[in-house]
Amino acid sequence: MNYFNYRGDDLYCEDISIEELAEEHETPLYIYSFGTLRRHYQVFDRAFAEVPHLVCFSAKANSNIAILRALINEGSGVDVVSGGELYRALKAGADPRKIVYSGVGKRPEEIRYALESDILMFNVESSQELEAINDEAGATRKKAPVALRVNPDVDPRTHPHISTGLKENKFGIDIDASLEEYLRARELENIEIKGVDCHIGSQILELMPFLDALRRLRDLVKCLRSEGIEIQYLDIGGGLGITYDREEPPHPDEYAKAVIEEVRDLDCTLILEPGRVIAGNAGILVARVLFTKERDGRNFIIVDAGMNDLLRPSFYGSYHQVLPVRKRKRETIVANIVGPICESGDFLVKNREIPSFKRGDLVAIMSAGAYGFTMSSNYNSRPRASELLVSGSLASVIKERETWDDLTKGETIPEFLMRY
Ligand code: LLP
Repeated sequence: MNYFNYRGDDLYCEDISIEELAEEHETPLYIYSFGTLRRHYQVFDRAFAEVPHLVCFSAKANSNIAILRALINEGSGVDVVSGGELYRALKAGADPRKIVYSGVGKRPEEIRYALESDILMFNVESSQELEAINDEAGATRKKAPVALRVNPDVDPRTHPHISTGLKENKFGIDIDASLEEYLRARELENIEIKGVDCHIGSQILELMPFLDALRRLRDLVKCLRSEGIEIQYLDIGGGLGITYDREEPPHPDEYAKAVIEEVRDLDCTLILEPGRVIAGNAGILVARVLFTKERDGRNFIIVDAGMNDLLRPSFYGSYHQVLPVRKRKRETIVANIVGPICESGDFLVKNREIPSFKRGDLVAIMSAGAYGFTMSSNYNSRPRASELLVSGSLASVIKERETWDDLTKGETIPEFLMRY
């Protein structure tokens, strides 16, 4: 369910025509629907209502502080993976006691920042990291709350780049070695064990991989308790998939029901780190057609958004639905929608039957609310797009378009080069 719908021939976000927004704010433009975002959060959160739980929205999916704030207002915590994301979460007004911090490469100053901020817990991904956190906590005279992120060696059956819970992936501590690691953690003076954490991958479309992982986690929690290690939180990460094309992922209610079944008797507070399922279909990217060309029967529609704005198609071969912002009576053609970047891999749509867009038309690239703007870059010195948040008939700029001036911010030409 989302609030991007046609009224007559015009695509709307909630109560505003996207054409109007594109005229006023130019393209490329990210547009998010507040109503959709809020609804997705509420559906997900309510699905877990019968057990103690905390939803920590995964900031990597969309870290704009307005988006974070919208979810924080609904009661969300935040899952962060860097000092920068922690900074954003706090700036957006997150309760530090609802922040969890994952990631395989935490720097000392990031660890310190998180300790000083009194976050809920660190999800620790290696023995060396545990030691580093213990050291930093000692220096700050704090006890660091931790969960160990275990790698359950479960195949999430998703794209290899976004599977994380297999032995071959860099993430987490081997579940079979985790008891030993917990016993070590217990001996560390500045560490306080709070929980067990796991995240097996993203865009997962079946319940089975989650359940396989959960069963292994259950056994681990029981085993830890029998060793006298108290486990208060069970963090099962994110990963629930969404519909980009014709996928039929489990509804959050089904997902929650299956999860709750596995953990009900564990007496843990459940932590969930959804990203895509909350934000993915709450945002679109709007681009304008610059030129079209045809060569040897191949059609190229060149738009003003490229892989620097939305990397997913180039990087993963991901499918994003493309809709005309205004429907016109046009035949369909098989075409590629490509960006202005100087790379053959710069495409948004490959060999797909789509309306034959013409110069000046606006196209909406759907399902771009998660891992869209957050993965964008300045490649080819292209200023990053602006972002709008729409609520009803109100549109707010939540990120201004970058300027050429922004591109060289922080760069200097050393004196010796200026003498020529
Ligand atoms: N928790 C952890 C520890 C994660 O690594 C991730 C995603 C999440 C939660 C949220 O997962 P979600 O609910 O969004 O599936 N750039 C890729 C996705 C990478 C996901 C990385 N980790 C894409 O565009 O598909």
